Amino acid sequence: MNSDIAKSSAADFAIKLVKKNMKIGLGTGSTARIFVKKLAKIIKTNSLEIIGVPTSNSTMELAKELGIELANLNEVGKLDFVFDGADEFDPHLNLIKGGGGALLQEKIVAKSAKEMIVLADESKQVNFLGKFPLPVEIIRFGSDKTISLVKEYLADHFGKAPTITLRQKNETPFISDESHFIIDIFLGKIKEPKRLNVQLNSIVGVVETGLFTDIASSVVIGKNDGSVEILK
Ligand code: 5RP
Repeated sequence: MNSDIAKSSAADFAIKLVKKNMKIGLGTGSTARIFVKKLAKIIKTNSLEIIGVPTSNSTMELAKELGIELANLNEVGKLDFVFDGADEFDPHLNLIKGGGGALLQEKIVAKSAKEMIVLADESKQVNFLGKFPLPVEIIRFGSDKTISLVKEYLADHFGKAPTITLRQKNETPFISDESHFIIDIFLGKIKEPKRLNVQLNSIVGVVETGLFTDIASSVVIGKNDGSVEILK
């Protein structure tokens, strides 16, 4: 697939930033998986001492399989980098994340890193976030109430109530690694991502949103012809 070439090119560029003794956050999703596999290879080839902090159970399993040394975030504290994918990014480095359901750990790990390097193929580039439904992690208790409060807030601010779906997996609600539900909000165009993030996070029952604002340091955009462009 062309996008595999694009994702792989972005990962190849990012891997060059890895130096010995670094502590690195390991993202979640298909692009992050490509990066983690390449990381395992260079750790072995160059005998680098790297400690990885995974952002999900699935990344943890992959990294363990590949023999990457792992630690939990509390043990390492500050990370040199986190390398992660995104569902959308805009020209100001705002992101939508959470398509893979790992947004909460991803955001905490990203906030713990000196630099968040986003690896994305060019299809993720947008002028305004929002075409990709915004994932929001919510508490399971009273989830219908939380969803109606979110709807009410959005109806007031967007003019009409958006469609909100409770994410499913195998015909039952998807449960995140932190044992929460995820809702997906169909907004179309998010004009003020920073404000929306703050407002949604203030609604009772909301744990965290998939809006990453003022977090990413750069986006490595992988192209289908194998080239990359860096957005800083
Ligand atoms: C997971 C994420 C992923 O980074 C995002 O969904 C992009 O995934 P992919 O690289 O498979 O397109 O936020 O929660």
